[in-house]
Amino acid sequence: MFIVHTVSELRQLLQLAHRQKKTIGLVPTMGALHAGHLSLVQACKTQCTLTVVSIFVNPTQFNNPEDLRNYPRTLKNDSALLQANGVEILFAPGEHEIYPEPDTRLFDFGALEQVMEGKFRPGHFNGVAQAVSRLFTIVQPGYAFFGEKDFQQLAIIRALAMQMDEKPVIVGCPIVRENDGLAMSSRNTLLSERQREHAPLIAATLMQAKEKACTLPVEEMKKWVAATINADSELEVEYIEIADEKNLQPVKQWPHDTPARLFAAVYAHPVRLIDNIRLS
Ligand code: PAJ
Repeated sequence: MFIVHTVSELRQLLQLAHRQKKTIGLVPTMGALHAGHLSLVQACKTQCTLTVVSIFVNPTQFNNPEDLRNYPRTLKNDSALLQANGVEILFAPGEHEIYPEPDTRLFDFGALEQVMEGKFRPGHFNGVAQAVSRLFTIVQPGYAFFGEKDFQQLAIIRALAMQMDEKPVIVGCPIVRENDGLAMSSRNTLLSERQREHAPLIAATLMQAKEKACTLPVEEMKKWVAATINADSELEVEYIEIADEKNLQPVKQWPHDTPARLFAAVYAHPVRLIDNIRLS
């Protein structure tokens, strides 16, 4: 596996790959890798002949400086995992490589960015779009892989790709969970032992809600999910939403003609966890 830290080193490697007509797949990450990330790597390896994984803790997408400071950084362990999983290139750039100049671009994702994560983390998706668009321009992948764990991010990335000249095919991959149901996340390592024991209630409640779906009116369902999670001393709901899978706008009532998803953002202070599940 090649480990490169600069755009120019990466471009040299990729020029050769482009000449050899390789199908380049990109898996963008912020590191602290787990089986969720590795499932994207596996999907990439089955569809592409060259897998590039990027690790870049992108400062512009953090709306909370403490969250950025605390974000786990485990490059040595990550590169060993990627090597063991057959990745050809690890791109781990410094901030100056991605942002040689401060990035002042403002993206417009319309209604997609006005709900849920967009509403509660102002500027977050603009920062994601800045980093991912730079990565797309640098790597020029044929395919790029993203997890449904960040379902709204996946929708934003699809919208971003539509706005770009050279667009990769965007592939969405299912959520990978721990045995107790907790959605895998780099932030899980920041939970205390007690919080880690309580955190699976989030997924368990979403799964119960899926069973109940349509038997309760939409608003009552959201209230029930929030109350069930908030009853736990370690957890505090930021939002619960039921939204259309395509446009991510809130669903008001059943029946709803396109698939709907239940979304949750929950604090195990100061750690913020998100999860979602398809309802229909
Ligand atoms: P990060 O949180 O490291 O996630 C990288 C990719 O892994 C994202 O596409 C995310 O949805 C996916 N992922 C994380 N946990 C997962 C799980 N349990 N199951 C399936 N996929 C999972 O998301 C980001 O980084 C950044 O915003 C990034 C896109 C790299 C832009 O900076």
